[in-house]
Amino acid sequence: MTSRSCFRHLNNTRVGIVVPSLGEGIWLPVMLFRPILTSRKHFKAESTDIILTIMPKSGTTWLKALTFSIANRNVFSIDQSPLLTSNPHTLVPFLEYTVYPDLENPELENIPRPRIFSTHMHFKILPDSIRESGCRIIYICRNPLDQFVSHYHFILQNKIENDAVPLELDEVFDMFCQGIQPFGPFWDHMLGYWNAQLKNPQKLLFLKYEDLKQDVSSHVKQIAEFIGFPFSAEEENQGMLEQISRLCSFENLKNLKVNKSGYFIGSIKNSSFFRKGEVGDWINHLTPAMAERVNNLTETKFQSSGLVF
Ligand code: A3P
Repeated sequence: MTSRSCFRHLNNTRVGIVVPSLGEGIWLPVMLFRPILTSRKHFKAESTDIILTIMPKSGTTWLKALTFSIANRNVFSIDQSPLLTSNPHTLVPFLEYTVYPDLENPELENIPRPRIFSTHMHFKILPDSIRESGCRIIYICRNPLDQFVSHYHFILQNKIENDAVPLELDEVFDMFCQGIQPFGPFWDHMLGYWNAQLKNPQKLLFLKYEDLKQDVSSHVKQIAEFIGFPFSAEEENQGMLEQISRLCSFENLKNLKVNKSGYFIGSIKNSSFFRKGEVGDWINHLTPAMAERVNNLTETKFQSSGLVF
């Protein structure tokens, strides 16, 4: 690990941070160790909760907007949606960034049901109550090449580094291939949730960013059914699926005043959550050799899992 890398391995004694209770092989930003441990200890999932789990830069913001809109469609009309004035990360809090940053017992009782939370944690380090209660988990993943490119730009836009010298793309790429990324390794994150949904498809819905881009309305319907809020025939006839899809579209959210300005947790630009929102943008940033390296890695890692990318 270079002195410029921004992440620390859970089991890397050289940097003096050992958290064996979380298991091995997960890379986390140091600032999140305590919140993750606290949420694992204190968070009590309820059976009606909806937990959105995502590798960073794989569609978190979009999935939050969609799930919030679906679950609250009888509370707020589309033209009164809180999404028009609040960033999706404000409406659906992260356990590790927002709920448990420095509080052991945040006030979660008065949140209207169903409560919706999100996390970037791997399946194996989720709070036990999430895995054991009847709550639902929705996971969204993304092509590794696009996720990498998205993440690189996010780092640059927000200057997320330990020192003033920006990391070069090929340096960050090399780290990515070694699994070194916040919440990496990328492939283990996906496999953990993939295997969990194979074991219990009622508990976990596994989605792909690319599939949503192709047909968001059918996924709006699928998410609604999965969380127990199916659309009535009347709602479908009224075009509710399409209205929610439009409300949560990249173009709509990106151009809202609230998402063009302001910050998340003090230092992350709201605007940095909305870059291009395209499938296949990696081709503008990575060489064929880089793509081949990642594709080979992906094939090897997902071999015999049934997960294809
Ligand atoms: P790009 O950087 O490729 O544009 P996350 O929300 O997990 O941080 O992921 C951010 C990525 O999702 C960014 O990808 C961002 O542009 C894209 N994104 C954000 N909102 C979106 C939306 N409503 N629809 C589609 N993509 C969206």
